[in-house]
Order: sequence, then structure tokens, then C-alpha cells
Amino acid sequence: MPRAPTLEATYEAPPNIALVKYWGVRDRARAIPYNSSISVTLDRLRSRTRVRFDPALSTDRVRLNGEVATGGPRESVVRFLDRVREMAGVTYGADVESENNFPTASGLASSASGFAALAGAATAALSLRLSGRQLSQLARFGSGSAARSVFGGFVEWRAGTRPDGADCYARPLFGPDYWPALVDLVVIVKGAPVKAIRSEEAMQSTVATSPTYARRLAELPRRIRKIRDAIRDRDPGRLFPLVMEECDSFRDVCETTRPSLDYLTTTSRALLAEVRSMNRERGRPLAAYTHDAGAHLHVFTLAKDVVAVRRRLRKLPGVERTEVLHPGPGGRPVT
Ligand code: DP6
Repeated sequence: MPRAPTLEATYEAPPNIALVKYWGVRDRARAIPYNSSISVTLDRLRSRTRVRFDPALSTDRVRLNGEVATGGPRESVVRFLDRVREMAGVTYGADVESENNFPTASGLASSASGFAALAGAATAALSLRLSGRQLSQLARFGSGSAARSVFGGFVEWRAGTRPDGADCYARPLFGPDYWPALVDLVVIVKGAPVKAIRSEEAMQSTVATSPTYARRLAELPRRIRKIRDAIRDRDPGRLFPLVMEECDSFRDVCETTRPSLDYLTTTSRALLAEVRSMNRERGRPLAAYTHDAGAHLHVFTLAKDVVAVRRRLRKLPGVERTEVLHPGPGGRPVT
């Protein structure tokens, strides 16, 4: 008798930090953003997800970091699995187990790594052979930023122009080893508030209410080109000011959203000021800050400067700890 196929697969994917932020959805049904974004995929951190489809299961069982998921987090996994089931033409329930080797919702983008890993595991379990590009097109339905975690190194998620979203996908710009001297010093601050609303909702209220959002969108194509070129030339002197300019633009549209979106703590703001002072004192861009919709900071610098930058930033009251990360590889199957 032929053996029943094992409908099971495991996939690992890393988080990423955006240098150009995704913030605003043009088409919610197709998960198409208003603007293209660029990120660095991070090493050492990962989500590892195992999916087993079982014709005997009528509902999905989801465990996240060892606990049974309920409510919103479970729903978004189930909705994502529905999309994969439809692609494969099956109706089986699934058993999903996902673990992060870093704290969930710590500002380290666990939704990006989580949905990239889920996309990889669920499609492999049903023997859907997707290319990296196709996987990124699927992952974005779980979480926009997940599209970028499919690939390693420096990644661009293109918004595209087609109404059907066919040209909306992520692609690697430069591999994980392209710029080994670039360091992401993650600064974890104490008392970071837990996200009150999902980014997906928050960004739509920015689109609807921020008076500076249209200007941001108009500026972005040029900034994206300049950031891509500065990475290509491995030029911190050009890249670092652009990364901060972009972060400031993102923070501005958040703060001018009604009601205002404020993700930072007093410590995060002191860190922004400290990076600016360090750069001023040196007379050159020594480091660049950025943050997502959370209070922790990512400070880019070069390996030769990381000890000095770290020593300075650690001193600020309210800093819990720092972590040195680098560009790393993208998602991969675990065999
Ligand atoms: C500020 O992709 O996390 O991190 O769909 O709510 O999961 P959800 O949105 P998500 O939003 C990311 C927003 C950002 C910028 C970025 O990573 O590009």
C-alpha cells in the first residue's frame, strides 16, 4: 500500500529592521502597500515554525512559544492557513507550533519572522513549490514586513504599480555578506509599552489623518534610490543620515496621526538625541538610529566603532541591555 504523504514541514525565518518603512496599505484585500520599503535581515534571531496538516483535524491547533494561541493571534494564523489551503485545494486542519528565540512583541518584529516562517512551513507541508518571490508575495498577507524576511541581507519590498499586485514582491538587493562591517546595535529600553493596536490598523489611521503623509509618500522614491545607492557603495557617510531622515519622517507621520501614535519612551528619545550628539562631536556620521512601531532602538554603526557607541548609549538611564546583530541569511527549510 502506498504510504500516505507526510503533510509536515518546518521552516525558520529571521526578523528584519526597515531602513525605509512600510507604513500604509493601498489595497487591503490584496495587501498592497502605498510605498516600497527596504530592510536589513538580522542574524541570530529567528522564528521556527512546524506545520502538520492532518485530514483528521477539522480545526487548526496553534501553539505560539509553547502556549495555545487564542483570539487575534490565532485568527491571523488561521486566516493565513486558509489562503494556503485554497492554493493547494485542500481543507485539512493543521497543527502549528512556532517558537521565537527572542521575546515576542519586544519591538524585534516577531510578526515578520513568524509569518515568513509560517509561509515557508505551510507551503512546504502541502508540497507547493514556491519561489522566493512567490513566498514573499504570500507572506505579506500575514504581515507586510514578513515579505522581506524571506530573503537575507538587504531586501527591497516593491510596492509595484499593478492593481492585481502581481509586481508587489520582495527581492534581495545585496546578500548577507555584502557589508560585513555594518552592525546593528539593538538597544532594549526598560518599560517599553506593549503595542496597543496592530501596525496594520495604526498605519491606516495615519493614511486617513496625518497631514504630512502625502508629502512623505512624494519624498520616498528619491530617498529609496539614495539609500539603495549608499548601500551599494557601502558608504556610511551617505547611508546613516538618510536612515535617520527616514526614521524621522516615519515618526513625524505617526505623531501627526489623530489620535497621535507615540511609540517611544523618554529613554528612546534620549537615545535619539545621544546619537545626534555623537555624530556632531565626531563631525561625521558615526551612527544612525532607527525604530519601528516600538520603543527599542536599532543603531547602525561600523564594527570598528561599535564599542565606543555602545559604551556611550549604555550609560543612559532606562537602557536595559544592548545586542550586537549583523545582516544575516533569510528564511530556510529545516530538515
Ligand atoms: C513600522 O508588517 O508589522 O515595522 O501587518 O500589523 O503585522 P502588521 O504590520 P507590520 O508593519 C511594519 C511596520 C514597521 C515598518 C516596517 O517594518 O517596514
